[in-house]
Amino acid sequence: MIKAHGGKLINRIAEGKEREQLESLAPSLPKLTLNDRETADLEMIAIGAMSPLEGFMGREDYLSVLDLKRLAKGLPWTIPVVLAVKEGDGDEFVEGNQIALVESDGEILAVMDLEEKYGVDKQQEASKVLLTNDDAHPGVRYLDTIIGTYLGGTISLLKRPQHNRFENFRLDPKETRVLFKAKGWETIVAFQTRNPIHRAHEYLQKCALEIVDGLLVHPLVGETQKGDIPAEIRMECYKILFENYYPSTRTALSIFPAAMRYAGPREAVFHALVRKNYGCSHFIVGRDHAGVGSYYGTYDAHYIFAEFDRYEIDITPMFFDHSFFCKKCGNMASSKTCSHGSEDHVFLSGTKVRAMLAEGKMPPPEFTRPEVAELLMSFYKDQ
Ligand code: ADX
Ligand code: MG
Repeated sequence: MIKAHGGKLINRIAEGKEREQLESLAPSLPKLTLNDRETADLEMIAIGAMSPLEGFMGREDYLSVLDLKRLAKGLPWTIPVVLAVKEGDGDEFVEGNQIALVESDGEILAVMDLEEKYGVDKQQEASKVLLTNDDAHPGVRYLDTIIGTYLGGTISLLKRPQHNRFENFRLDPKETRVLFKAKGWETIVAFQTRNPIHRAHEYLQKCALEIVDGLLVHPLVGETQKGDIPAEIRMECYKILFENYYPSTRTALSIFPAAMRYAGPREAVFHALVRKNYGCSHFIVGRDHAGVGSYYGTYDAHYIFAEFDRYEIDITPMFFDHSFFCKKCGNMASSKTCSHGSEDHVFLSGTKVRAMLAEGKMPPPEFTRPEVAELLMSFYKDQ
């Protein structure tokens, strides 16, 4: 099976004596409350989804990621994974000491060895990572909610964040790896999504599944922007598709706990690297992967992979062109496989579909499976 990024699957969940010691020490430490993104990142670091990261990034890694799309030691990494001071000047957090990381309800989740406290230029981060400083971009808006002082250091997790949802669909990297082995899959393609699965998504997945042994549908369920369909509703859509249209021996569904960054091409590489940690050998990258608005070119998330050597990324990206239903062909296709003009193609944007649903209109079966359309219609009716 494919190795974790950097060679070793990280585990930062404290156990045994160390755990007992940290648990008794933690209440007396200075506390930093994590926001949703940081809470998700903390958990992903602890379970190895972010391997080789063992904590939140220090200055050297952070700047190297911004400038070179690599960690300081040279390994590809495209997204800063950082912990921010939220208010004041963070004087209570002293380099060389430990701090407690707490969830919004005050529950202690982890202890961090505070190796470094450093100031950053948030505008520069936005222009390098998100390629814009426009306030309308959700990632830029996120940066407005934090102070440009970051805390770097190794974490030890004491308690998993509270979830209360998707418990049967929450596999850690070590568990997906066991699952793939049990199923006898050697090549596994991961599919990232923050949307209900429509026919175009299904088409990419099934094209990939013609080639590899197994498909992991790995929907992101961390923080997304307003207007995206809630993860609970999406999960119902995925389950109904699995029941009706997916071969159970070759497909698996498990959630990806990350928050969405909307960083387009950089996030596509990040999405691929973390799926490697989950044990996947292939990763689907379609049109405008992890994009929002019109900040990124349709295929920028394909081109960025050419900046790295194949062996450095290791997981194999599977690039797909914009796909659609062609009425003349009578099937799903893309410009790579269809000779007809756009007048024969059913293309609906997410925005158009949401407008239809809001008006109580059923999206056509060429766009969405009827079982999924019905679920979405009933969700919109209750809005
Ligand atoms: S996101 O995380 O990349 O924003 P989204 O749900 O929008 O998730 O898309 C999931 C994956 O399907 C991405 O790789 C995206 O590029 C791809 N995709 C979505 N719609 C299409 C389409 N019509 N044609 C080709 N690829 C698509
Ligand atoms: Mg998209």
